[in-house]
Amino acid sequence: MGPHCNGNTVLFLSSILVLMGLSVWLRQRKQVLFYGRYRLEPESSSDTRVQIPAKVAWIIQELPSFVVPALLIYQSGSLDTLGSKLLLFLFCGHYFHRTWIYGYFTRGGSVQISFVLRSFLFCTCNGYLQGHNLIYCTKYDDSWTTDFRFLFGILLFLVGMAFNIHSDHLLRKLREPGDLSYKIPRGGLFEYISAANYFGEIVEWFGYSLATWTYPAFAFALFSALHLGSRAMHHHRFYQQKFQDYPKSRKALIPLLF
Ligand SMILES: NC(=O)c1ccc[n+]([C@@H]2O[C@H](COP(=O)([O-])OP(=O)(O)OC[C@H]3O[C@@H](n4cnc5c(N)ncnc54)[C@H](OP(=O)(O)O)[C@@H]3O)[C@@H](O)[C@H]2O)c1
Repeated sequence: MGPHCNGNTVLFLSSILVLMGLSVWLRQRKQVLFYGRYRLEPESSSDTRVQIPAKVAWIIQELPSFVVPALLIYQSGSLDTLGSKLLLFLFCGHYFHRTWIYGYFTRGGSVQISFVLRSFLFCTCNGYLQGHNLIYCTKYDDSWTTDFRFLFGILLFLVGMAFNIHSDHLLRKLREPGDLSYKIPRGGLFEYISAANYFGEIVEWFGYSLATWTYPAFAFALFSALHLGSRAMHHHRFYQQKFQDYPKSRKALIPLLF
């Protein structure tokens, strides 16, 4: 007998994602996660907080989000409907970009290895959850591809992805290779918000959740919003404290609101 829907695991992992989102949000209200501009530098050569270059870190940690669903598709042999094919293609497409293109071009500083390992584990579980759920646990009939939720969700996903990629590109252009300084981001959605790339990512995953209409996709969108939303507040404060001339009208995460 081939693999079948493991409903209990899907429910369990999705609920863990929601709880992790809430816990990261609560934690980041006090102390932001230590990567990027908040990284902890090793204090001596014997310091065990080993750092690895950002390009290697991003490729390693994000890879399972692309490879695990791709292997599940391969193992299943086929996907039932156009709806599930397109949805899983979007998920893998996002992570193909995040792993190989974002990872290859990033000009970020080094990343602590423990953070990379945790992210690797997270991406493996989430890749399995989203892939298994769409392949084995969700059945769409052919009318789903003309359903408003599917069409509007895909539109949101694509618009969010465009904002996310464009904003990450604007951030990358702020630095020459080897430069690790921070400057005021300008252009695109950065004219309205400090965390334009996070805004794009959150819109993307809520679009995906609408288009799939499943609990695991909603759990991941919620996790992303809670994680990136609370981190965006720290970025906003960082810019306000660092730059006297930081634009006063710029909000943290949602244009014109907050
Ligand atoms: N779905 C999720 O839950 C999730 C979670 C995390 C990340 N992500 C996505 O992964 C991507 C990267 O996330 P991140 O947290 O690393 O984003 P980030 O803090 O905005 O940093 C993005 C990149 O730009 C550089 N950078 C940021 N602000 C800069 C500035 N003012 N001047 C010069 N360089 C600047 C950073 O360098 P440094 O690294 O040196 O700071 C990093 O290389 C984003 O697209 C994000 O949406 C998604």
